[in-house]
Amino acid sequence: MSAPFQHLFGIAQLSREQIEHLVQLGESFIELSRRPVKKAPTLRGKTVINLFFENSTRTRTSFEIAGKRLSADVINISASTSATKKGETLLDTGETLAAMQPHVLVIRHSISGACEFLADFLPDTSIVNAGDGAHEHPTQVLTDLLTLQTKAGGVSGKTMTIVGDIAHSRVARSHLLAAKKLDYKVRLVAPKTLLPRGIEQFGCEVFHNFDAAIPGSDVLYMLRMQSERLTSNCCFPSIREYHEAYGLNAARLAKAGDDCLVMHPGPMNRGVEIASEVADSARSHILDQVEHGVAIRMAVLTELCGSSPQPQARSKRRKQAEAAMQAQGKLL
Ligand code: NCD
Repeated sequence: MSAPFQHLFGIAQLSREQIEHLVQLGESFIELSRRPVKKAPTLRGKTVINLFFENSTRTRTSFEIAGKRLSADVINISASTSATKKGETLLDTGETLAAMQPHVLVIRHSISGACEFLADFLPDTSIVNAGDGAHEHPTQVLTDLLTLQTKAGGVSGKTMTIVGDIAHSRVARSHLLAAKKLDYKVRLVAPKTLLPRGIEQFGCEVFHNFDAAIPGSDVLYMLRMQSERLTSNCCFPSIREYHEAYGLNAARLAKAGDDCLVMHPGPMNRGVEIASEVADSARSHILDQVEHGVAIRMAVLTELCGSSPQPQARSKRRKQAEAAMQAQGKLL
């Protein structure tokens, strides 16, 4: 039995048992999305708000579909249409939405730690991190673990080779944290300019030569260049040279074992980190990851709605929070 939790900020907070429980619960939800009638009453009466300050296709849509298929009321807000465009702070937006009594607030933000910051002020709302800066992206990693569970019989003992813009990738960081808990090895492949300093502390192998990292890999996990997080254009000379050195094409894939899986969290930049001949091949599990993303988000929402504070406990916690804020002079 894994311990319940009110928020999902990152893989860092989860125990091995909690990760395995979420993956198992996710697996049990895959079938629901394949039924002709894709509806279950699990989250009837629950409200989920998706608050996205960064662009997203699969993460935002999969949270929405996950909530709706489980009968929750789901509301989507994107930064471009929210009052933050009129100067409202993140905290005021968070408190405003929390006052409408949602059970879960799913947040994507460019600032690392944005979810934890908000959670301190919103004691009655469960918060899910849908990606915060270059920090963590827990539901993407849970999704990947579910794909490995269904397509490769699990992740334990495997070697995952993550290639590309490690420096700006919250997905790579969450995998490094998950690898320690679930006993898989991570190899990182990138030019020095796309690797954070001191990354070896995570206990991973680091390669600057992609070809050298391929033999022995069970998964080739390709990452997009996070141009929105790059402060300058100095990380590699040109797209063509990047693709030659770090792109996955058919010739490179031929150097991997027959069972090696190709994965990518999306969105892909074809011809940059991955060639179409690989992305569209039978070795690619990129669309399986997308399908599993819905199932994992169903699992996460179910888990959080089940562990939300009950109304009586809520009012007690609100009084405690108000007393604490009053003591700090915040309500005076
Ligand atoms: C990733 C993200 O947003 O961190 N995508 C995703 O959520 N599926 C990776 C990326 O943007 O490149």
